[in-house]
Amino acid sequence: MTAKLNVSDFLHGGDYNPEQWLDHPEIIDQDFNFFKEANINDVTVGIFSWAQLEPEEGKFDFSWLDDIFDRAEAQNGHVILATPSGAKPRWLADKYPEVLRTNEDGSKNIFGERHNHCYTSPVYRQKVQEINRKLAERYGHRKSLILWHISNEFGGSCYCDLCQGAFRDWLKAKYHTLDNLNRAYWAKFWSHTYTSWDQVHSPSPLGDQTLLGLNLDWKRFVTDRTIDFYEAEIKPLRELTPNIPITTNFMGGNPPESHVHYDLDYQKFAQHVDIVSWDSYPNWANDYESTAHLAMKTALMNDVMRSLKHQNYLIMESTPSQVNWHPYNRAKLPGMHQMGSLQQVAHGADAVNYFQLHQSRGSSEMFHGAVITHQLSDKTRVFKEVAQVGQDLVNLKPAKVTHHQAAKVAIVYDYDNMWALDDSRNYSNETKKYWRTIQEHYQYFWEHDIPVELISTQDDLTPYTLVIDPMHFMMSEAFTEKLRDYVQQGGHLVGTYMTGLVDKNFLAYLGGWPKALHDVYGVEFQETTTLYPKQHNHVAAFDKTYTVNDYADTVTVDTAQSLATYQDDFFAGSSALTKNTCGKGTAYYVAARTEEAFLEDFYDQLADEFGLKPELPIEKQGPTVSIQVREKAGQQFFFVINFSEKPATVTTTKSLTEVLSGQNVAAGAQALKPFDVKVYTV
Ligand code: GLA
Ligand code: GLA
Repeated sequence: MTAKLNVSDFLHGGDYNPEQWLDHPEIIDQDFNFFKEANINDVTVGIFSWAQLEPEEGKFDFSWLDDIFDRAEAQNGHVILATPSGAKPRWLADKYPEVLRTNEDGSKNIFGERHNHCYTSPVYRQKVQEINRKLAERYGHRKSLILWHISNEFGGSCYCDLCQGAFRDWLKAKYHTLDNLNRAYWAKFWSHTYTSWDQVHSPSPLGDQTLLGLNLDWKRFVTDRTIDFYEAEIKPLRELTPNIPITTNFMGGNPPESHVHYDLDYQKFAQHVDIVSWDSYPNWANDYESTAHLAMKTALMNDVMRSLKHQNYLIMESTPSQVNWHPYNRAKLPGMHQMGSLQQVAHGADAVNYFQLHQSRGSSEMFHGAVITHQLSDKTRVFKEVAQVGQDLVNLKPAKVTHHQAAKVAIVYDYDNMWALDDSRNYSNETKKYWRTIQEHYQYFWEHDIPVELISTQDDLTPYTLVIDPMHFMMSEAFTEKLRDYVQQGGHLVGTYMTGLVDKNFLAYLGGWPKALHDVYGVEFQETTTLYPKQHNHVAAFDKTYTVNDYADTVTVDTAQSLATYQDDFFAGSSALTKNTCGKGTAYYVAARTEEAFLEDFYDQLADEFGLKPELPIEKQGPTVSIQVREKAGQQFFFVINFSEKPATVTTTKSLTEVLSGQNVAAGAQALKPFDVKVYTV
């Protein structure tokens, strides 16, 4: 069952905790005036409000929340209502200690903090369902209610006896017999053979951490358990408010790596939400990379979130300026707020929401950026920049119905593979860098404004002209066949070093690659060399020489053609890049990790050959300007963003309308200020 988000405007608003201000009604009055002024049209309420909503077990107080709904509706605003399970009240932990989480070493938490309930505890599930039912009964029919926000940033895991029992049940359902389990875990290794299901325990620093299959299954289980808890949470909501869509706020892209969220398989979780939303906190204006480089990584995270359901998504949180938890909490520079906010919209976000609308007066987040700060003023620099984005989103309304331009290029990433590769006790933990590798492959396409979808192994490959599948160390046989079918039918594929080594049970493939993988790439994998950081090989390709870093696979060429060769070491002269024709398509194997210039030159050739470069009515000078297209039924919006502290110029090749200013512009040079955003339409 899915419900659709039914709003015609871009959403602009965010987390609001009026329960902190109930003894200051004048502040709540002023907040709503400021919301109007900044074109804030939604508030996300109820996150962490359980103690206010149910101060004693079974005793509820909704008066303050009723008031917020009334105020929102009085100014035609929307409410995103959160379920409060992200932080429990003290009475609940006191009376039912089983709801407290148990740590990996077996120690049990005392009450405190947030995001730390046991997700198996029947009591916690029941208490959450009760309060969620009350919320749905009371607010389900309010016209302002547009979306459920389930809990907050699900994460972590519990290791209590209830969870161990659930893990054993999960394993029984998967393996059926202990024999199967022992085989899958290669449990004869170090005499770890299981002789009873009761012996199975989660990986632990006090016990097993070397059964790689067990480690991986535990990670899979944690995702499934979290989804199971979430499904229990939403039961009363589905029952009472079937037309109100449901989301939970995902995470990702945090500094320094801008890594995809690691602990939960969002490709799985996303199947259970109606619309994806996420919390975006790039550290703009840092000192170790250019704004454009961070913009590339942030673009990728937005594409990841859009690709989870292949549809528009929401920014559920972002900061109006600084946060309080980056290693250094720098304020955004003037213009950066608009730049970063509209970048998200350019990639398919239909909401720019903030953490937080009103800064909390005390406790750990009192200095986190907010729309309304301790100054209680609408005259701050930050407030004015937020209000500017609010106005932009109003002006952009005609683009609300559009979607990010369909991609011809897909990059595959996979959670099982990421976890397995990181746990593989091989190569170098310093340099595996799966996500960094995805970013390096993505970079060319971002710099050339070629749309990319980030897909899972479950996705259909056939919509894409080019599929890139880097470092696919753990690959199921089913997926090897999917790749072969895709190429045989005319698709083009790029794979890299460290591919196809283990099956989905984390057992090595015997006798070389699975046949389908061998057929598709037309090479035979031999071995991977892990280089020390100061060691390099070189590759001669495209009449140039490129440096090889970190990893070099050697392959023997079978039906493939060799396009580049290694220059050094015992494998000098052997193939470093191959091309194989398989059915109607082609497959390239990039055997080495190279300097970025190699990928740039390689993908430039493929982009020309496969017609991947978009035709745009705007020409740019260099890669620090990004052009993203949102479109529908022939109407296109070109988001042109200058990710640089220096001015830039683009050339419009026909007369266009600039949507944010409403001005018509003739063909010719258009000046962009530092961090500037222009949105053009025909
Ligand atoms: C030691 C142990 C072996 C094996 C090797 C691996 O020598 O005795 O069992 O673990 O290390 O290098
Ligand atoms: C997360 C949480 C919020 C808040 C912000 C601070 O996104 O969901 O409650 O703590 O971080 O940046």
